[in-house]
Amino acid sequence: MAEKTNVKRLDVEYNGEFCYPVLFSKDYSGLADEVAALKPEGRKVCIVTDSNVAPFYLDKVKDILEKYYAKVITYTFPAGEQSKTLDVVTDILENLIENGFDRNDMLAALGGGVTGDMTGFAASIYLRGIKFFQLPTTLLSMVDASVGGKTGVDFKSYKNMVGAFYMPSFVYINIDTLNTLTDKVYFEGYGEIIKHAYIKDAELLDFLEENVDKLKKRDPKLLLKLVYRNVKIKRYVVQKDPKESGLRAILNFGHTLGHAIEKQSDLRMLHGECVSVGCMAALYMSYKRGFITEKEVARAEKLFKMFELPVNIKLEDGFKPDKIIADTKKDKKKDGAGIKFVLINREGNAIIDKSVSDDEMRVGLDFVLVK
Ligand code: GLY
Repeated sequence: MAEKTNVKRLDVEYNGEFCYPVLFSKDYSGLADEVAALKPEGRKVCIVTDSNVAPFYLDKVKDILEKYYAKVITYTFPAGEQSKTLDVVTDILENLIENGFDRNDMLAALGGGVTGDMTGFAASIYLRGIKFFQLPTTLLSMVDASVGGKTGVDFKSYKNMVGAFYMPSFVYINIDTLNTLTDKVYFEGYGEIIKHAYIKDAELLDFLEENVDKLKKRDPKLLLKLVYRNVKIKRYVVQKDPKESGLRAILNFGHTLGHAIEKQSDLRMLHGECVSVGCMAALYMSYKRGFITEKEVARAEKLFKMFELPVNIKLEDGFKPDKIIADTKKDKKKDGAGIKFVLINREGNAIIDKSVSDDEMRVGLDFVLVK
């Protein structure tokens, strides 16, 4: 499909064939065309969103969808990772049943990663699968969660333990929605962005360092560039390995310890913040292996800090290092042979290592732990 001047586009393939487009815009002016392509006439759609996003964008999106669908209903849940549960998914499904949704009706995910993951999961299991599309509104969900078809919920405090690979019909990124994020939620996205740089794009490190001031001011032109570049990285990886049988695991750089820290923080820390700390531990472990220099570790620390991200956790905040190490074993990134730990062997290149020992992880954890 031709690209419109105000909407950029990247097509994502699955097994070598076109699967869905990711659209990039500074507003919702191109959304109608994407919706029209789904043949919405006579169909119903449920917009799933959270209590933070609804006041800003729900009416706007509802107005657009009402021009195309026979019926638009909405489902709003309390914002936060605490809502990413089977109970909320059950509630969404009940709403669909009560409103007579059939196989041809659709879901729209309007919000961050929690919204996208839960809505996609609900779509994947309702009547064995109905269409859904992603309208990510956070930086983290734009550059990571909305692309690649991972859907699911947390289960008994284990992150993303229950879910499915299920592809959206399209992803529509409206960069303007980044303006209404709190600083904490905006900067959280840089956890995944800096991760992308370390695993696949060393020059992105320079770009971030050179443009930090403008990015902190949320310059829309630069943000469009940054998000597009990150989706390209994510697309490259998920196209090569859509169901994480190999390469896709590199996206888990910083996540093995990061998820265990997130669990122990009782969700006081945001996902992207835990990824930042987890990346610092993995970078230090990469240095200890002789892959990168001490100076490069210091550069990373400076970069995460520039984007207001934590690089440490404190013992006085109740973190228990032994338990963090033990929890890495329960993470779903484990396979029968052990943890698939992601290290870098140079800036911009990740390796998956199954030989990382508890002692080695402990060294990484000690590096980020303030005693
Ligand atoms: N967020 C990691 C992945 O999509 O594989």
